[in-house]
Amino acid sequence: MVSGPEQMHAAYVESLGGTDAIRYGMLPVPRCGPGDVLLQVEAVAVDNVDTFVRSGRFPTALTFPFVIGRDVVGTVVGRGAEVTTPNVGDRVWCNSLGHDGRQGPTSEYTTAPADRVYSLPAGVDPVVAVAVAHPAATAHLALYTHAGLRAVETVFVAGGAGHVGSALTVMAARSGARVLVSARADDDEWCRSSGAAEVLDYTAPDLAGRLRSAASDGIDVLVDTSGRLDLATTLNLLATRGRIVVMAGMDRQLECRAGDLYPRDRSLIGFAISNATSDELAEAAQHVTTLLADGVLRPRNVEELPLSAAGEAHRRLEAGDARGIRLVLRPEH
Ligand SMILES: NC(=O)c1ccc[n+]([C@@H]2O[C@H](COP(=O)([O-])OP(=O)(O)OC[C@H]3O[C@@H](n4cnc5c(N)ncnc54)[C@H](OP(=O)(O)O)[C@@H]3O)[C@@H](O)[C@H]2O)c1
Repeated sequence: MVSGPEQMHAAYVESLGGTDAIRYGMLPVPRCGPGDVLLQVEAVAVDNVDTFVRSGRFPTALTFPFVIGRDVVGTVVGRGAEVTTPNVGDRVWCNSLGHDGRQGPTSEYTTAPADRVYSLPAGVDPVVAVAVAHPAATAHLALYTHAGLRAVETVFVAGGAGHVGSALTVMAARSGARVLVSARADDDEWCRSSGAAEVLDYTAPDLAGRLRSAASDGIDVLVDTSGRLDLATTLNLLATRGRIVVMAGMDRQLECRAGDLYPRDRSLIGFAISNATSDELAEAAQHVTTLLADGVLRPRNVEELPLSAAGEAHRRLEAGDARGIRLVLRPEH
């Protein structure tokens, strides 16, 4: 273990609550458990799920003071006794801190289990990597782990211009699928540059009718990132054995006629990345890392803020005041 400072700046909460609960101050630098690495933090993303964990909307095991956040890029500066890889000095990323008993990384240093960190490819900007890590890993899990996407299939992404929607479009299109997305008309160019074959304006009338024309053989995989899914209407747009992946819109009531579901072998799949195993996350990370190294995955807009602006960042996300922007926090060292 390399000796370093005893104290660090951190954004944390003493109990679950609103954004006013977020404190920025000094905490002890965490110590590695036997299977952990200690990272000097370079960049931390601010995700919707961070606000759910902080507020208690997503119940998970936490200890207080709880350092907020989930995704990080950093440099390994220490290792637990059982860790053989990565090495001190390696730059890595992790997208599964801040829940299930693990502290978050919105601080100058953080520990992470060694099997949950992945190499940052040479030449990849840490801000780009941290900005796409969560949406892209989510997209991988949705398409491959849960929906079992095959190359010849037709995919519909509801919310194709968003962070997860863009990653879904890139991945599905590169897998050989035909990708249809819904987005505002002024997001058409961005969605096509991600690989969408058709962009349907969700603000214009009769989206269902336009989708039926665009996918005359039916949709094989529908991923809803908008949280506005109208299940009863959408179900009838699916092909036989079509799958709908529900991953957003916690308070939405979903209703459908059973006869539109089972007689066509259709299925409804819900998932949350927080439940992914470390093996599933590692598989997703391998895919994400390849796409990062190829320069294919990119955030649309990033706004960098200091760690001390964590409270402001949570407020903006909750107010819907960061449309199309990934907020990334950086320590000032
Ligand atoms: N289950 C999981 O594991 C998991 C993981 C990551 C994220 N999530 C959730 O997934 C959702 C998306 O995350 P994100 O980071 O991609 O957010 P985002 O960037 O805000 O994307 C949401 C997209 O939905 C679009 N949208 C809004 N209303 C729509 C409608 N009626 N029809 C079609 N599209 C519509 C938005 O478009 P406009 O910009 O035009 O409004 C935006 O592009 C969030 O709810 C997040 O909490 C879940």
